[in-house]
Amino acid sequence: MVRTAVLVSGGGTNLQALIDAAARGGLPDAELALVVSNREGAFALERARRAGLEAAYIGPEGFEARLSELLAERGIGLVVLAGFLRILSPEFVSGWAGRMLNIHPSLIPAFCGEGYYGLRVHEAALRRGVKLTGATVHFVNEIPDGGEIILQQAVPVLPGDTPESLQRRVMEQAEWKLLPEAVKRVARDIERSEKA
Ligand code: GRF
Repeated sequence: MVRTAVLVSGGGTNLQALIDAAARGGLPDAELALVVSNREGAFALERARRAGLEAAYIGPEGFEARLSELLAERGIGLVVLAGFLRILSPEFVSGWAGRMLNIHPSLIPAFCGEGYYGLRVHEAALRRGVKLTGATVHFVNEIPDGGEIILQQAVPVLPGDTPESLQRRVMEQAEWKLLPEAVKRVARDIERSEKA
């Protein structure tokens, strides 16, 4: 089993998708062991508590040092960024090559990188007039949203869509499906590489 930590900042619907997937046996090689937020009031922490998971808040002072310490103490082997809104330094990220995933609410390379997060992504997609958008799960490297792509799922943009209605559709039809599937596959691959 790969002990897995989920980093969150907001509502935690992607975390919830992982919790629900684990509950139905959908993450056979990943053990959700820890949820960490950089925002004390993140509802995602409440979701973690309700699921019986350790839920930790880490403040801005020495954030990465404290995070590294906690991940090591808990024997974490896989880190999932799920609506996590802090950019991690290249130094930090380089220590997790192949073991850190992120979910982004567009079809990378569209609408990604600096400043593209949350509703802003969907506002940009609507402004550009794309007919298809979607979500991407990728490995995290030193370039924001620049790591190797693992899974993508396209979602139609419908007439009359608002950023909110589009975000909801992308979450329901893409994010909440892709993230559990990606965690399942990466955890399996890590397990196999550790046994080889
Ligand atoms: C949402 O914009 C989602 O598309 C993106 O992060 C934001 C918050 O997601 N992945 P969550 O509900 O906190 O998982």
